[in-house]
Amino acid sequence: MTTSPTTAIILGTGLGQLASEITDSYEFPYSEIPNFPVSTVEGHAGKLIFGKLGGVDIMAMEGRFHYYEGYNMKEVTFPIRVMYELGIKTLFVSNASGGMNPEFKIGDLMIITDHINFFPEHPLRGKNFPTGPRFPDMHETYDHALIKQAEDIAREKGIRVVHGVYMGVQGPTFETPAEYKMYHRMGADAVGMSTVPEVIVAHHCGIKTFGISIITDLGLEDTPVEVSHEEVQVAANNAQPLMTEIMREMIRRA
Ligand code: HPA
Repeated sequence: MTTSPTTAIILGTGLGQLASEITDSYEFPYSEIPNFPVSTVEGHAGKLIFGKLGGVDIMAMEGRFHYYEGYNMKEVTFPIRVMYELGIKTLFVSNASGGMNPEFKIGDLMIITDHINFFPEHPLRGKNFPTGPRFPDMHETYDHALIKQAEDIAREKGIRVVHGVYMGVQGPTFETPAEYKMYHRMGADAVGMSTVPEVIVAHHCGIKTFGISIITDLGLEDTPVEVSHEEVQVAANNAQPLMTEIMREMIRRA
């Protein structure tokens, strides 16, 4: 089989189902790829899948690497370097996050319009890779045309979407009420433990990025609610069909 995808997707929380829709697939367990980290989180299998989705050649990452697992940023973002070397031009990502914008409801799909990098280690720290400049501009980290396309698709399909700034933090603790309040006041609408490192490296590689975050719990000012990994999974699974519908169509039009 030959495939030369220019589109990649990280099957984060809420997108696992898409993996089963990939046809003509060829799979590489991470454990068989030189230098690839191996994922440890429950519910995150680890393999690269090459195949077709809606007639489009794609490369999918099933299972991603989180900083809280103990990987350094070079490891967390290594798959993005591989994507670049393979000729990927567009990257779709998903994640789960805690909503801090009072307009948000659990189960909302938030189109990520921008991010705040609050990780303690920068993924581009160290010798600069020649894929991009030493000091990259970050004005349009999330591609405006792809955001517009997602809005069109959501409208056509009658799917409610919200927009917002994603704050990437190291975890693994969820936030204290004071932290949710601080992050919201810093300008973020949702907070989560992934995505930002991969998106920064993709951007530095000239790969266009689009991301959706499922709001799985709420950290609203003065109304703190407890949150557990299980609740996050349940909310994400419930939102999965709509998320999948948008992403499937985004890829079909890619
Ligand atoms: N905080 C951080 N990460 C998350 C959350 C949250 O509330 N929900 C899902 N991932």
